[in-house]
Amino acid sequence: MEHLTVRMRRMRRNPLLRDMVSEARVNLENLIYPMFVTEEAESREIPSMPGIWRYTIPDLCRAVEETAASGIKAVMLFGIPQHKDPLGTQAYHPEGIVPRAIRAIRKTVGDSILIVPDVCLCEYTSHGHCGVLENGDVLNDPTLELLSRAAVCYVEAGADIIAPSDMMDGRVAAIRRALDEASRTHIPILAYSAKYASAFYGPFREAADSAPQTGDRKSYQMAPANRREALREIELDIQEGADMVMVKPGLAYLDILREARECFEVPLAVYNVSGEYSMVKAAAANGWIDEERIVDEILTAFRRAGADIILTYHALQWAKRRGKH
Ligand code: PBG
Repeated sequence: MEHLTVRMRRMRRNPLLRDMVSEARVNLENLIYPMFVTEEAESREIPSMPGIWRYTIPDLCRAVEETAASGIKAVMLFGIPQHKDPLGTQAYHPEGIVPRAIRAIRKTVGDSILIVPDVCLCEYTSHGHCGVLENGDVLNDPTLELLSRAAVCYVEAGADIIAPSDMMDGRVAAIRRALDEASRTHIPILAYSAKYASAFYGPFREAADSAPQTGDRKSYQMAPANRREALREIELDIQEGADMVMVKPGLAYLDILREARECFEVPLAVYNVSGEYSMVKAAAANGWIDEERIVDEILTAFRRAGADIILTYHALQWAKRRGKH
């Protein structure tokens, strides 16, 4: 045996040494916890997403209190309205479910947590598409006006950050302009920039009751095969004024995340989507995987790939577990 000078195992010998050279860490400050709020009379757990609920406003306020107490600094909000119509009017009504929820959360927890409403029409339209539908086509430019109204309406209710997820062209510029005209120049935009047309959103669509009634989202969300196109989408959103950009979903798109990290200097987010959560939960419920270790590994992978911010349904359980150590 030749003399070994370099031994990689030296720095792996115990946890103190290993932690000292850890290259990626997940912090509470990196997490955004997505939550659903409903106009139904009672809160209900989402069957395909154990631990995640569609909350009534009072229950949501309690859950946000618990989330803030866990150390999490931001929640994303998705509204599920009682009434849907072709133009998704409840998305931008000042008394709609999301503005009411924002005001209630503010009253309950003050400024201790950032409120980040998702801006899209698909939960509010009767046809389930993310924009105005005409003869089977999702119309781009008429949708921008409605998204802008929703953004202003949520900010007037008290939102801290606006997160458009619709994938219409030009929506970041339209929303930026609308916020500025409403004297909200200080409100940042977190753009869902590289959002792929993905089967990983399946459980979300059940949760938010937002599956398209006809067709699919392939005319506005990206094709999973495309990498260069993702970089163009991100570049455009930055030019239009996005303060932060996002890659979505996460696990099957870690290469896109890494590439975005290399190419752009803005804060970068990744969305660990519903289907990714459900797969972990289902396998764990069967005793096939060690849930805690799997979640740590997934979240660490997002940080290693370059994400500053991770949107994940695992956030609350992860934060509570960390609190115990
Ligand atoms: C709304 C929206 C979706 C998600 C976030 N915002 C659904 C979709 O585009 O169909 C997916 C989130 C998830 O799957 O967890 N457009």
